[in-house]
Amino acid sequence: MSLSLILPRWYDLHAHFRQDDLIAPLVQAHLSMGCCGILAMPNTSPPVAKIFDTDSLPYTSLESYRRQLQDAANGLLETIIVPLYLTAQTTPQMIAAGAHTGLLKACKYYPPHGTTGAMHGAPLELFIQNGVLRAMEEHNVILCVHGEAHDLAAEKYFDEKTNAEDLFYREMLPPVLDAFPRLKIVAEHITTRTAAEFVARGPDTLAASITPQHLLYTVGHLLKGLRYHLYCLPLPKFSDDRAALQEAVLDKSNQKFFAGTDSAPHAQKTTDCGCAAGCFTGGIAPQLYAQAFEEAGCNLEDPAQQKIFAAFLCENGPTFYGLPVAQKTFQLRKEPQNIHTLKIGSHEIVPLPLGMRADMNAQRATLPWQVHL
Ligand code: DOR
Ligand code: ZN
Repeated sequence: MSLSLILPRWYDLHAHFRQDDLIAPLVQAHLSMGCCGILAMPNTSPPVAKIFDTDSLPYTSLESYRRQLQDAANGLLETIIVPLYLTAQTTPQMIAAGAHTGLLKACKYYPPHGTTGAMHGAPLELFIQNGVLRAMEEHNVILCVHGEAHDLAAEKYFDEKTNAEDLFYREMLPPVLDAFPRLKIVAEHITTRTAAEFVARGPDTLAASITPQHLLYTVGHLLKGLRYHLYCLPLPKFSDDRAALQEAVLDKSNQKFFAGTDSAPHAQKTTDCGCAAGCFTGGIAPQLYAQAFEEAGCNLEDPAQQKIFAAFLCENGPTFYGLPVAQKTFQLRKEPQNIHTLKIGSHEIVPLPLGMRADMNAQRATLPWQVHL
């Protein structure tokens, strides 16, 4: 008999579902992996940067994007949170109005031009000064941060001792914690020892999501053979950084670190002048997280260690967001699963493990775990 884990359905508290015809199949991929709730990123085009359909700003409304996701899920997702994309046009009044209707639960800080779809972001100081973070704190709206300093010289952007994420957690986030002690903050998709330790030592208002790719891989995996399907932002870092993430999720008292895949489909990863950032893990994330826990030394046959895995995947995230741990369950079974590209119309999206396979002529990749609903 193969090992089987029965787990509460889980929440992906950071994923990209894009727009138009891509939404429905991407949401279905999430449903197929036992997901009961999502936090759907607002970096669409135009971004989800106003609350109501009737607002005059030239952006997608949170109201309409949520409706599109709900329609795609056909009532099967219990929770859909869409964080409002913070732009120079975001006002404290928008935060208050959104929170009063119950539509607005979170906002997303993107470093200007720092990643895919981040060209509408504004510097963090602006939101400290213009009352937006104050309004969020007052109305219990959670701040989700893409924690990287922007506008850096290339030398400072990625170095063993200093990189954009280190600088963000060393210099940019501490003043926000000091100024807004009741503001809940999620350090999203963290990749460094600096960030992991900053979050672990921080107040209860601070938590972090971690992706499967940052638990599994290092920058060496990205560079050896230039595996561009692993190219995502923040970049995978060094072994010691990965070890810090692994320690954080394997800690038996972990309540602060949780699943957020950052699954980010790109039909075309390579472009004329570079590479689109994002790893697609829709449909396979619990399998990858289980694999990552095992590779980090967790014995998933041991009930006590299964609990640590369940806390990370199914409990800590919803608890931080004030959501119930799911009653319904799903099964993770230790049996090999073949995976293929996801075809959506003329688009072909390559799931991360397929992009990492050793034999590039192979049409499929194999995972050690399967999901059963
Ligand atoms: O790798 C990434 N891809 N990081 C992000 O911050 C955005 C995402 C995307 O939208 O593709
Ligand atoms: Zn993302």
